[in-house]
Amino acid sequence: MQGLTADILKGCWYLALESGALGPAKPVGLKIAGEPIVLARGADGTPFALRDSCPHRGIPLHYGRVKEGTIECCYHGWRFGADGGCVEIPSLREGQAMELSRIRTPAFPTRERYGCIWIYLPRGEEAPAEALIPEPVGLPDLAASEAPKSAIAMDFPCSSDHAAFGLMDPTHAAYVHTSWWFKKDARKLRPKEKRFAPSPFGFRMERHAIPPQNVIYRWLLGDNVTTEIGYQLPGYRIEHIRGDRHWVVGLTAITPIDEGATVVHQLFWTSLGWVRPAAPLVRHFTRVFLRQDRDVVVQQREGLAGGAKVMLINDADTQARWWMRLKHEWQVAQAEGRAFVNPLRPQILRFRS
Ligand code: FES
Ligand SMILES: [Fe+2]
Repeated sequence: MQGLTADILKGCWYLALESGALGPAKPVGLKIAGEPIVLARGADGTPFALRDSCPHRGIPLHYGRVKEGTIECCYHGWRFGADGGCVEIPSLREGQAMELSRIRTPAFPTRERYGCIWIYLPRGEEAPAEALIPEPVGLPDLAASEAPKSAIAMDFPCSSDHAAFGLMDPTHAAYVHTSWWFKKDARKLRPKEKRFAPSPFGFRMERHAIPPQNVIYRWLLGDNVTTEIGYQLPGYRIEHIRGDRHWVVGLTAITPIDEGATVVHQLFWTSLGWVRPAAPLVRHFTRVFLRQDRDVVVQQREGLAGGAKVMLINDADTQARWWMRLKHEWQVAQAEGRAFVNPLRPQILRFRS
């Protein structure tokens, strides 16, 4: 079972980058799902993504620069547009006509929304026609133009399965996420009972009231604070907290670098206006939390590298089991060329946490 590596889902959207990390002049190179990708902005600022490899001699295009909305290779100056087609070979002289558009590097469908850049990883070599591609994940209460108030990304040296298990693991917080200011004496576990239901590409913990002892939520968001937490393929956790006065949306996005390494993005949007000036503080505490998750997967890796097996028990690890069932159905549906059918049923999970 899930060792050091994970199957990576294709035919879906991954969060690549926060919008602010891609300027107008310099391409950015990264790896998603084992694929080297270069991102740049066209002349009108729209981002585009190409395979990060120059068709001439294979040098990664991210070493080049952006010129007139195209990527110029750093080696001999060949330029490539948003569709991956070559638009200029500077060394050509009159009479040396070449059909430039036949020289190309694959392009990936790209969207910019919620202050992030999303890339579609196709199943095969070529992406399907734009009209056949579904849209990236939708977030509640948010306009697509709304940028996060806080965003951080952290490399996790583990497979996307173990990163996902961490997200939906209700019983590790008392042991892992402890500090002087949070869950100081955390090991006093309480019995919990949570209601779950399937959602289009995953499942959700149904909307429920935040326990009254969490006074900070009431202070920030007003009375009647409730939350709903959704998990969906290929690796998203969306938490929507709502009170009488304000709301917060948290997104954790798991983007596989390859079978054994992952980037975890943590972003927040909120109607609370004062959060933007406080963003460095919010980012600091988010980083402390994520680092705690990262430290345990580093330790876990040591065991897995030695051949340790993984156990998933009821009900504490039922969500991780569901996750593997969803992934399996995604792959089978694609192989059979049919629509994804969510195999999950509504269920109440009971555990102590
Ligand atoms: S290697 Fe890119 S232009 Fe020659
Ligand atoms: Fe955690």
